[in-house]
Amino acid sequence: MVPAAPFLLVLFLALGAHGLSVKKCSLTGRWVNDLGSKMTIATVNANGDFAGTYNTAVTATSNEIKVSPLQGTMQKGPNQKGQPTFGFTVHWTFSESITVFTGQCFVDDNGNEVLKTMWLLRSHEENIKDDWKATRVGINVFTRLLSQE
Ligand code: BTN
Repeated sequence: MVPAAPFLLVLFLALGAHGLSVKKCSLTGRWVNDLGSKMTIATVNANGDFAGTYNTAVTATSNEIKVSPLQGTMQKGPNQKGQPTFGFTVHWTFSESITVFTGQCFVDDNGNEVLKTMWLLRSHEENIKDDWKATRVGINVFTRLLSQE
């Protein structure tokens, strides 16, 4: 029979140490996705709201690409466990479109942070009859940009 107090103390310390060592995924910083697009997310405030910039590597238009602003929010619920869900909107400054992203900030098996996202890109149409072709959908995976570029 194991004496309860020392056993509970060891269990408590082990769980505490584990809790301290588990890496969390933070949205703040610079990211690059599988298309080569880069984004910067500034500080996430106490409500989970954030802003940043998006430099897309590709465009559905023939316009010259310009860095565009994004605004988003991160879930702050008690069960996010350091891998929060989030959403953000990119207001393209060089096209008439809007993109919304939703995803989750994970720590992968190698300890690297990764943003797994899905997006909807809404184009402007002159005529309601063209609504059916106005929305593209896709996925993007972002990893943290460590270089200065
Ligand atoms: C446009 O072409 O009207 C604006 C640029 C759209 C870029 C899209 S958003 C989804 C996908 N992921 C990227 O990083 N770029 C493309």
